[in-house]
Amino acid sequence: MSPNSPSYKKPIRKAIFPVAGLGTRFLPATKAMPKEMLPINDRPLIQHVFEEAREAGIEEFFFVTGRHKEMLEEHFDFQPELEATLQSRGKNDMLAKVRDSEIPAGKLFLTRQPKPLGLGHAIWCAAKLIGNEPFAVLLPDDLVLAEQGCLTQMVNLYNEQGGNVIAVRDVPKEDTKKYGILDIESDDGSCVKIKGLVEKPEPDIAPSTLSIIGRYILQPDVFKHLSNFETGAGGEIQLTDAMAKLIGTQPFHGLRFNGNHFDCGGRTGFIEANIAFSLCDKEISDSVQKIIQNYAN
Ligand code: UTP
Repeated sequence: MSPNSPSYKKPIRKAIFPVAGLGTRFLPATKAMPKEMLPINDRPLIQHVFEEAREAGIEEFFFVTGRHKEMLEEHFDFQPELEATLQSRGKNDMLAKVRDSEIPAGKLFLTRQPKPLGLGHAIWCAAKLIGNEPFAVLLPDDLVLAEQGCLTQMVNLYNEQGGNVIAVRDVPKEDTKKYGILDIESDDGSCVKIKGLVEKPEPDIAPSTLSIIGRYILQPDVFKHLSNFETGAGGEIQLTDAMAKLIGTQPFHGLRFNGNHFDCGGRTGFIEANIAFSLCDKEISDSVQKIIQNYAN
């Protein structure tokens, strides 16, 4: 990078939520209902990631949707009959929860991905809406239970380093073939300087065991690479391949975030997340604890 390179530090105001996948691992639950509407404790996956984005200062929310996904936009809309009923019954706590799940006027944007051609393609579908500014991507499949939201932690690192920041975690060596894996230049234990990315490498050729999770802060230059529509692992247009092309031209770091990560895209991770989030909910944690103990015996 030359001394005249741009700082790549514009504020992160926009976030993309790719929600056009088929959710086949949850069939038949996801035959008519979007996977992203499956609940973890009292709110759907999509609301968890929306709240994480809002906490991190995101102002505009971009959903990449597909067929049969209308329920997602309904969820964040004003529900006058429901609110009036809750108000007349004096259910103020519940009313506050419902209102907290609304996205204000002018802040929710929708675009469609006609066919689920891969995560990279889904992100490309939002290119015109995002324009020439950096943005966040949050996959509702990935939840992080943490005192400070994962995206907030990433924005803090971005404010120091600029460029691109992805959330990373260590995985067992035999699992590298399930994830995007980092090739590491340097590692201070929390911030990792990245020199390469490989999508789903076999364990014997994986450059490390640090894997990407579904949280990204990216510069808009990634759209140029996505617009080649090159297919990668699994015959899909991979975001990892397009991101890899930015490395060396602008800052690119991984953050070992604080918090527990849950892969809610599969059934066991989803169940584990439900247990963990319920145990953190004062209203029900004691009862859940008892249920777990009963089953453990
Ligand atoms: P996944 O690959 O985990 O979701 O993508 P999926 O394809 O819906 O699930 P399975 O494997 O069939 O069970 C992670 C996120 O990216 C979105 C999905 O909706 C999910 O939120 N996605 C994936 C898209 O929007 N478009 C795609 O082409 C692929």
